[in-house]
Amino acid sequence: MNYPSESTQDDVIHSWHIRAHAYDKLIERWPIFTNMVDRLVEFAPKDFDGHALDIAGGSGLLAEHFLRRNPKARMTLVEPAEGMRALASRRLGNRIIIKDATSEKLDRLELNADAALCSASFHLMNEETTLPSIASVLEKGSVFAVNLWGHSFDETINLEQKVDWIKFVDQALNEFDLPPMNRPKKNTPRIKSKEELRKIGKNCGLHLRETNIVTTEIETQFSIEFAAMDFNFLNQVEKGIREQVIARALELCCGLDTISTVDFKFEKV
Ligand SMILES: C[S@@+](CC[C@H](N)C(=O)[O-])C[C@H]1O[C@@H](n2cnc3c(N)ncnc32)[C@H](O)[C@@H]1O
Repeated sequence: MNYPSESTQDDVIHSWHIRAHAYDKLIERWPIFTNMVDRLVEFAPKDFDGHALDIAGGSGLLAEHFLRRNPKARMTLVEPAEGMRALASRRLGNRIIIKDATSEKLDRLELNADAALCSASFHLMNEETTLPSIASVLEKGSVFAVNLWGHSFDETINLEQKVDWIKFVDQALNEFDLPPMNRPKKNTPRIKSKEELRKIGKNCGLHLRETNIVTTEIETQFSIEFAAMDFNFLNQVEKGIREQVIARALELCCGLDTISTVDFKFEKV
């Protein structure tokens, strides 16, 4: 299996730095992100009052929900993209500690935790280095709750059904007398398998206890809004017109996509 090189990882993190504000708006509008977070939060023990980590915490959505459910918890949000850390700080102020690190290098932070959670980000990570890194900071008996988009998991990859949203963008471009969009390069996701995760986890003391697949129907507009977060999206179109084309594509767009997500609960033994 090929994993991204250091420089590719830097590119990924930089892309989230630039998209931070757009992402924060997207998660407000589309409840799928909050639903994912709420399911993970349920994996922590009731009345949790220890130290929890929000890994790849982004703008702080999971940390906010975790603290609402567990007001006595201490929380550290770990996030490598500066733009995201700024938004998390704005959202949660002094209710959390915020650290700059990738999931693969948590040992640099010199901390110990009683729970770790990670939402909507595991597909961006190398599990062979991330799971041992997380295990190294967790106390015995702690939970690691993490989810994965279905397109990155072998058991759910075929459950995903998407309407071809590009046709609506092309229709909108056509109305503005503009040529069709450049088809985005197909980004082949790294497919993780349950057996592989179980094996890698077991080798570092993180035992896989639960796997739950959740399938959601979502308007195809979501795919356009997600793509439009990327600053390269329709970058051949003049600024100002670009926003109008996107708005028109969203008006024209119809249909439902099926997105699956998978929730995993690991326990440190
Ligand atoms: C889709 S956002 C999810 C943010 C947040 N967990 C949420 O649920 O809203 C993905 C996040 O993963 C972060 N990320 C990307 N690669 C990472 C890595 N190797 N280690 C830690 N975080 C990473 C990005 O900077 C970005 O903030």
